[in-house]
Amino acid sequence: MTTELKKLPEHIGFIIDGNGRWAKERGWPRNKGHQHGIKNLDVVIKECFYHYNIPYVSIYCFSTENWNRPKGELDFLFKYFTEYLKANNFVKKYPHVRLNIMGDYTKFPAALVKNARAVMEATKNETQYILNLGLNYSGQDEIVRAVNQMLTDHVAPTVDRATMEKYLYTHDQPLLDFVVRTSGEQRLSNFMLWQVSYAELYFPKIYWPAFGAEDLYTALLEYQNRHRRFGTIQGEDA
Ligand code: IPE
Ligand code: IPE
Ligand code: MG
Repeated sequence: MTTELKKLPEHIGFIIDGNGRWAKERGWPRNKGHQHGIKNLDVVIKECFYHYNIPYVSIYCFSTENWNRPKGELDFLFKYFTEYLKANNFVKKYPHVRLNIMGDYTKFPAALVKNARAVMEATKNETQYILNLGLNYSGQDEIVRAVNQMLTDHVAPTVDRATMEKYLYTHDQPLLDFVVRTSGEQRLSNFMLWQVSYAELYFPKIYWPAFGAEDLYTALLEYQNRHRRFGTIQGEDA
């Protein structure tokens, strides 16, 4: 019997780490880990949206630093992302979800760019759930990009936080409440640096391909028991 969760995040983020180590543990090549890792996106995303009704889900899939991996590994990753983003499959798999890609995805191979565009176009009028996928993403670059766009738009002699947030990939979305990084590494690796400002952080020692529905439940239970204080002396639960 599982406890009913009374307090859920409105915006949850995942840094999906440990694909390579998961495969290595089994004596398999790293690409097998990516294959299973990308398959596992379905499990976790569907649970978040349709089981827990969490409206905003952000997933770090590929960082700007990940280009420094061997070409053979990148080719496999791009192949799996391309398959994952087949428009018809995506819309069938994830009803009522709008896809929002964070990062310059146009640098990827043409087939992947084409699929990414097609899914964003096919889902652009969905409002119930938003899936933010970090693809060629860097939190620092996102902030620099926002500043440059504000300069181009001549927004004002000074800007405030609300204006800044309008220029982020997540404009009109709430900031992150909870971030889960799998594999036991305890760092952000450039993930959503602005949006993470007051998020609760959780680092389970489970590799991403093995992170299943029960692990998500455990993570959400942990979130429920956190006391977010936002600088006050009592916190929201007092
Ligand atoms: C996460 O798994 C996937 C990506 C960063 C693309 P890794 O490939 O980083 O796996 P480990 O950390 O080497 O085990
Ligand atoms: C972080 O994982 C990036 C993604 C999950 C896409 P990495 O495996 O690239 O991060 P580091 O190198 O361990 O910090
Ligand atoms: Mg890693």
